[in-house]
Amino acid sequence: MRKLNIVILAAGKGTRMHSSKPKVLHEIGAKPILAHVIDCAKALNPLKIIVVYGYGGDTVREAFAHENITWVNQAEQLGTGHAVQQASPHLDNDANTLILLGDVPLVDIQACKQLIEQADKKLVIQSFNKDDPTGYGRIVRAATHNVLAIVEHKDATELQRKIVEVNTGIMAMPTQHLIKWLSQLTNNNAQGEYYLTDIVALAVAQSVDVIAEITPDEWSVTGINSKTDLAQIERIYQTRVAQQLLLQGVTLKDPARLDVRGVLNCGQDVQIDVNCLFEGVVTLGDNVKIGANCVIKNAVIATGSHIAPFTHIDDSKIGENSRIGPFARLRPGTVLQSETHVGNFVELKNAQVDIGSKINHLSYVGDATIGKNVNIGAGTITCNYDGANKFRTVIEDGAFIGSDTQLIAPVTIGANATIAAGSTITKDAPADALTFCRAKEQKSIVGWKRPVKIKK
Ligand code: UD1
Ligand code: MG
Repeated sequence: MRKLNIVILAAGKGTRMHSSKPKVLHEIGAKPILAHVIDCAKALNPLKIIVVYGYGGDTVREAFAHENITWVNQAEQLGTGHAVQQASPHLDNDANTLILLGDVPLVDIQACKQLIEQADKKLVIQSFNKDDPTGYGRIVRAATHNVLAIVEHKDATELQRKIVEVNTGIMAMPTQHLIKWLSQLTNNNAQGEYYLTDIVALAVAQSVDVIAEITPDEWSVTGINSKTDLAQIERIYQTRVAQQLLLQGVTLKDPARLDVRGVLNCGQDVQIDVNCLFEGVVTLGDNVKIGANCVIKNAVIATGSHIAPFTHIDDSKIGENSRIGPFARLRPGTVLQSETHVGNFVELKNAQVDIGSKINHLSYVGDATIGKNVNIGAGTITCNYDGANKFRTVIEDGAFIGSDTQLIAPVTIGANATIAAGSTITKDAPADALTFCRAKEQKSIVGWKRPVKIKK
């Protein structure tokens, strides 16, 4: 097989998106549409990836500044042929060229490979059969079945419009032929555009074989033109991600109610209940269970841990056999060692919690280092912020923090210390002692009456 150049056409404005953002930067699975196409291109190991951009150009380039891409500006969009002409000076004469469309995010790597493998001497087009072919270029074949031409909808005769085999826009060919054909294009057609599709008739006239490979997978060639298309393709993408997870052995209570916006790595016997959203890179160890309605972003959850429903986890690590939630919130920087318990309405931020510690109810623990086997009672708050600066709370191994305690940071609670419920702790508490800080006495006023509403 020859060297490969890939040209991605992405200059279109995408008027029907009704957005100030260039079409190809809208996202599928939280990744720009064009990024999906570029990832497919990269998987084919080309010598060069050339992206033809136009509308919203700089924002498109900036979004891919980290990629090794040759950018070509098509200032005026005069047609797909004109777009490829702009890339022509960058093409390698001794290579094959694959044309991809920047708005087709589910483009299939295997199908592209099949096109490229045949393109050493031929023009290979990917086609598909469309129930309603309106708007597409039709594949015109001879009685012998040989491809003769692609005729655009607006230029097609009534008879040609009955053809349901249409052009996907994805094609591959020897670059030296392409360069020659591009120089022979005219805009003598219904739209006054330079059609890339006219190269088919040129190839036929010059006795170069043309084949059209019909793909059965319509979604892999479907372009996005509107928010309706975007939403539909997002569902298809998510369905495919879910199928992939099922194939790997993940138990999904309902594959239709899962969203992965990034990468979800799963060990063995992972169970995921309905309506969970995974963002960024999330890794779930063996036997992890995720309850319904969890939102989990950039997290590692180790073997045997269970996350109960309605838990929100962001940039955090959870050790083995831990129990989190329901209704817990783990904010960035939270690192829990194994066998920790974090219960309902507990918020953790930048908190490191060692083995076996429990924070089971209604607490805020931020900027804290918590030792092993610590028990933090309901309603405990680390007061980490004085309005200007943040301070740390350190709770050493085996400490017991009574309910409704405020720990005014910076403060250290010694190992095996006990803090009495309702204390406001402003100074370090020694190890092994009971520390309390409450109003001196408890008073009762017999016969006291509650205030009553004054009648107007
Ligand atoms: C094109 C094909 C048609 C095919 C259809 C599949 C041509 C002439 N027609 O039609 O046979 O059935 O795609 O969707 O090729 N683009 C540029 N610069 C331009 C024009 C287009 O970069 O000057 C890009 C667009 O951003 C888009 C792609 O090329 O990614 C296809 O353009 P579009 O306008 O959608 O082509 P169609 O007329 O729909
Ligand atoms: Mg189109």
